[in-house]
Amino acid sequence: MIESSSILALDGVTKRFGQITALENFGVDIRKGEFITVIGPSGCGKSTLFNIVAGLESPDEGRISHHGKPVAAGDLLGQVAFMPQQDLLLPWRTVLDNAILAIELEGTPRSEARRMAMDMLPEFGLTGFERHYPQQLSGGMRQRVALMRTFLFKRELMLLDEPFGALDSLTRSMMQRWLLEIWRHHERTVLFITHDIDEAIFLGDRVLVMSARPGRIKLEQHIGLPRPRLGEVVTSEAFVQLKRKLLKELEEESMKSFTP
Ligand SMILES: Nc1ncnc2c1ncn2[C@@H]1O[C@H](COP(=O)(O)OP(=O)(O)OP(=O)(O)O)[C@@H](O)[C@H]1O
Ligand SMILES: [Mg+2]
Repeated sequence: MIESSSILALDGVTKRFGQITALENFGVDIRKGEFITVIGPSGCGKSTLFNIVAGLESPDEGRISHHGKPVAAGDLLGQVAFMPQQDLLLPWRTVLDNAILAIELEGTPRSEARRMAMDMLPEFGLTGFERHYPQQLSGGMRQRVALMRTFLFKRELMLLDEPFGALDSLTRSMMQRWLLEIWRHHERTVLFITHDIDEAIFLGDRVLVMSARPGRIKLEQHIGLPRPRLGEVVTSEAFVQLKRKLLKELEEESMKSFTP
């Protein structure tokens, strides 16, 4: 198999907030087209990792390279599409105008941006809702609007921070399958944070298990399950074995973060 090229690599990254070390000696190489999922106990530095990759925070130590070239964290601002942990929809903007927010800020004229968003509505299951306001939508729809905003902001790397966290399990599994479809169709590279081990295995080409704070990579698990991953995948022996292994690692770390 030919290894695809590196989009973004972190090496030895450490980030401190005063007395707290959020990330320590963190390294990862994200290759084109991959779907990487990240799991780890609450507070282990996952969102901090995303803030660094998005260029919103600078590491205290370590190196970052973008397409093999060393860069400062700030150089990454605007280079990646970022869906933060809170969906950040503006209550006074319609679905359509929330979806175009990032590309409008980037300078795309509103009329053109709206046309681009209209074209994407069916794929995101939002046809007919373009003039609705966020408070008129279900939780799943709100998350699709936030995802649509991230997809419209066309960057090769997308960071999704627990995008399905607030959904019931049925809606969540439908959204997972749907996300895999559009990931394939749009040929993007995804870094995806979740608390849910099933979700991490179902979606990922690789799962990164992070240690309790300070966050390091505890285990990097390749997921060889064939795609498209249909419902049966989650009940297969291979899936169950992976789940057992990752659960053990994660539980060990979660126990540590609860020990005073
Ligand atoms: N801007 C900040 N200033 C001070 N401390 C911060 C800041 N951002 C994060 N931290 C601290 O860094 C640690 C890691 O936080 P982070 O939000 O990255 O965790 P997380 O893994 O995303 O947690 P969760 O799963 O609950 O979302 C926490 O102890 C948090 O309090
Ligand atoms: Mg977080």
